[in-house]
Amino acid sequence: MAGGPSTPELTAAVSNAGGLGFLAGALLSPEALDAQLSAVEALTRHPYGVNLFLPSARRGRAEELRDYRRRVAPLAAGLGVEPGEPTWNDDSVAAKIDVVCAHHPAAVSLTFGSPGGELTERIHAEIGALVVGTVTSAAEAETAASDGADLLVVQGIEAGGHRAVFVDEATDPNGGAATSIGPLLVEVRRAVDVPLIAAGGIMDGSGIAAALAFGAAAAQLGTAFLCSDEAGTSAVHRRALLDQTYERTVITRAFSGRPARGLLNEFAAGFTEGAPAAYPEVGAITGPLRAAATAAGRSDVPNLWAGTGWRAVTEASASDILARLTRELAAA
Ligand SMILES: Cc1cc2nc3c(=O)[nH]c(=O)nc-3n(C[C@H](O)[C@H](O)[C@H](O)COP(=O)(O)O)c2cc1C
Repeated sequence: MAGGPSTPELTAAVSNAGGLGFLAGALLSPEALDAQLSAVEALTRHPYGVNLFLPSARRGRAEELRDYRRRVAPLAAGLGVEPGEPTWNDDSVAAKIDVVCAHHPAAVSLTFGSPGGELTERIHAEIGALVVGTVTSAAEAETAASDGADLLVVQGIEAGGHRAVFVDEATDPNGGAATSIGPLLVEVRRAVDVPLIAAGGIMDGSGIAAALAFGAAAAQLGTAFLCSDEAGTSAVHRRALLDQTYERTVITRAFSGRPARGLLNEFAAGFTEGAPAAYPEVGAITGPLRAAATAAGRSDVPNLWAGTGWRAVTEASASDILARLTRELAAA
């Protein structure tokens, strides 16, 4: 869970409690990732995973980005900042892969594209970690499996945060096929023969049991841990989730330029229509607004990522959340 919620403490706490904690490597400098991986390894001797975003090949259209920057400028002025420049970057992914290969995660997961045969071979050869692809359709699953991915995270439309679509289809508000986790597991299972990890809207043991019944080997939960003691989730984000400040979630490109699910706050309501399909350029434009609003304690502007099950979020330690999930799963 890149962008704040992920911490070495959360990753290690999940792994220490019998889960497989994942550290988010996206949106960090290679140096910060190195330090965070060392911190995880100091906090747990159990297996853990790390996730990276793959860069998008496509650049946003300059004119569209200029228009969007102009659209958010009055709101920025009200917050005492200027919108950022719409710069593209590759999230330093090559340097971060070198960093990951100098540590010993048990699993390396990749999002926003297929891992690729070369990267998969390198991770296998250098650190012997499992390579995990993240997919939203049977076609993406076939590509990732043929690249040698050992496991696939199958992300349903319910999931909080960014949709993992390999290519964001600009003409579609969801960026691609919008399949629910149950039917998606059935589709993907028919297409490939690798173990599947179900993700999207799972908040309790009955949700995990349902995912297993649909053929998943495991479940991945994000939103369920957003208000855990160890998460780095901002106070504004926590409060919006726990106080149920907003009524529903929405998929929007307004914050980052890629479709992502979060609470439908005022920014999402006002800027989703016409937001360019340009990641990470749109995120660079909105970054100063989101940061200023968060610092001011305002929930109307920042991205408040949340899956469709967000109402069931609880405040507890990660180990208590895992113990509850385990009990509920056994009961289910
Ligand atoms: C705040 C937040 C940040 C996320 N960041 C990432 C990320 O960095 N990489 C990634 O692959 N998925 C990310 N996701 C998606 C999760 O990996 C997972 O697919 C999703 O949380 C599952 O749905 P749920 O939130 O309903 O449990 C994020 C989700 C949330 C809620």
